[in-house]
Amino acid sequence: MTLEELKILLKNNNFKDNEIEEIITTIKHIFLSYEFQKRLSKKYSHHGNIPLGIHILEVMMKTYRLSKKCNKKLALKIAMMHDLYTNPWQNKKIKKSSFFHKHGFVHPIEACINASFWYKNDFQDLDHAKIIIDGIIHHMAHFPVAVTKSFTTNELELINYDKISKISPEIREIIIDSLNRKKIGRLSFCKSKFKEGRIVRLADHLISFKQITNFWDLLALINGKNRNIK
Ligand SMILES: [Fe+2]
Ligand SMILES: [Fe+2]
Repeated sequence: MTLEELKILLKNNNFKDNEIEEIITTIKHIFLSYEFQKRLSKKYSHHGNIPLGIHILEVMMKTYRLSKKCNKKLALKIAMMHDLYTNPWQNKKIKKSSFFHKHGFVHPIEACINASFWYKNDFQDLDHAKIIIDGIIHHMAHFPVAVTKSFTTNELELINYDKISKISPEIREIIIDSLNRKKIGRLSFCKSKFKEGRIVRLADHLISFKQITNFWDLLALINGKNRNIK
């Protein structure tokens, strides 16, 4: 998708010219990146046949509409990064040794590691990094996130574990702190402590409810299999 096509999408969703300008300026570097563009293909079907990139753009637009009295730029970035997990998840027969290591539990951690590796500049300011990371990690709340005390071993069987050593120790610590909030056993149950993250969570829930249109799409969230897609 080109920037021109993104502008048309925003126009068709009734965004005004100044709003389009603000959105494009904030998210352009993520939108145009190879990793984001790749996720606009049908190979990355997220809910049913809807590509992950389209899901993310819809969440981003909803986030903009819901963002009042908060740092809109940070909220838009969280929305653009929240589901940047590594591989497609439906019908992939991915085997994990624990139920709690499955996609639904670990994808926010995977997305957070990917985003902080691919878009390092957005994580330079550590106060901003804390808000972005907490928003990504807890975007599924209260769906629990599988947690681990440290990343010294690949205890969670993360697909992108190799990137952990390539992100800065400060960012790694912020991710771990975020994962360890409101822990019950090995799972963390909480919303983001920042308004920006809570807005993205709400936008993600509203868009996901709209995009999950049948029983098979819903069942896929539990067992990873979807009869409706190849
Ligand atoms: Fe998600
Ligand atoms: Fe999402």
